[in-house]
Amino acid sequence: MAQRLKPAKATKASELKVRPVVLKLGGSVITYKDVPFSANESAIGRLAEEIAEAGVPQLVIVHGGGSFGHPLAKKYAIKEGFNGKSSQLLGFSETHQAMGTLNNMILKALIHCNIPALTIAPSSTIVSKSGRMVARIDDHLKRLLHLGLVPLLYGDAVLDSDKGFTILSGDQLVASAAIQLNAERIVIGVEGNGLFKSDPKEGRGDLIRTCTLRQLKELQKQVRKTTVHDVTGGMQGKIAELIPAVEKGITVVVVNACKPQRVCKALRGEKVTGTIIRKE
Ligand SMILES: Nc1ncnc2c1ncn2[C@@H]1O[C@H](COP(=O)(O)OP(=O)(O)O)[C@@H](O)[C@H]1O
Ligand SMILES: [Mg+2]
Repeated sequence: MAQRLKPAKATKASELKVRPVVLKLGGSVITYKDVPFSANESAIGRLAEEIAEAGVPQLVIVHGGGSFGHPLAKKYAIKEGFNGKSSQLLGFSETHQAMGTLNNMILKALIHCNIPALTIAPSSTIVSKSGRMVARIDDHLKRLLHLGLVPLLYGDAVLDSDKGFTILSGDQLVASAAIQLNAERIVIGVEGNGLFKSDPKEGRGDLIRTCTLRQLKELQKQVRKTTVHDVTGGMQGKIAELIPAVEKGITVVVVNACKPQRVCKALRGEKVTGTIIRKE
């Protein structure tokens, strides 16, 4: 007869033994952002292997929308809120479905690497207020972590108490979850080597290797909003979301998730090429 596992006692988040790490897998890493609905399956598979290899005891994973979420969100103006038309309702539904498809690919890759990930769909668990996440999700996350599961969330089309619905970015979710859980570290996996003094796509920018809160606020003023393939503000949106987490003393590491081993090293807290952001 199979041995029955003793159910873990219900726990409060404050009872977690170690501070969790929150990982963001950028949409531009896990998809080809300029080709609608195309996942980068080899990157997804490799990242799942790296996450398994890193062996972080308490991990929360959030992924972006890339070419699955952003084109539909843009087409139907989901971020702007409900306009009263039934066609937009179908767009809300389609945006969530596309994100679910991408999420399922990531979940499958994680499970394949023996990572017990469990998806929390923001659309069915989070109601934002004017685009901001006000709800607490830490108790839910802590219960999963306490059991040894790996919560998996993603930027999604969510209900909004003022706008009807909107887009909740993966970046906002990362910062919110990290603050609520008092995370040890946030690891942001992007397609560039880290934060640059100017957009690396516009020429050779200098990689910023270490960055203080004050420098991050300065950079926020210089970085332009990129909206071509991203309805959540690109790097400018990311920086804006990360500032409150850094203010709380959470270390942020921005690394190139397209290059092997960088995410693995950052998850372990090892020295890695990228940008390390600390309060001071
Ligand atoms: N100063 C900067 N440092 C790094 N990346 C920048 C900067 N300014 C603009 N970017 C752009 O931001 C992009 C990352 O943001 P985004 O496309 O939203 O990524 P993700 O898909 O991971 O959310 C990079 O591809 C880069 O071209
Ligand atoms: Mg983005």
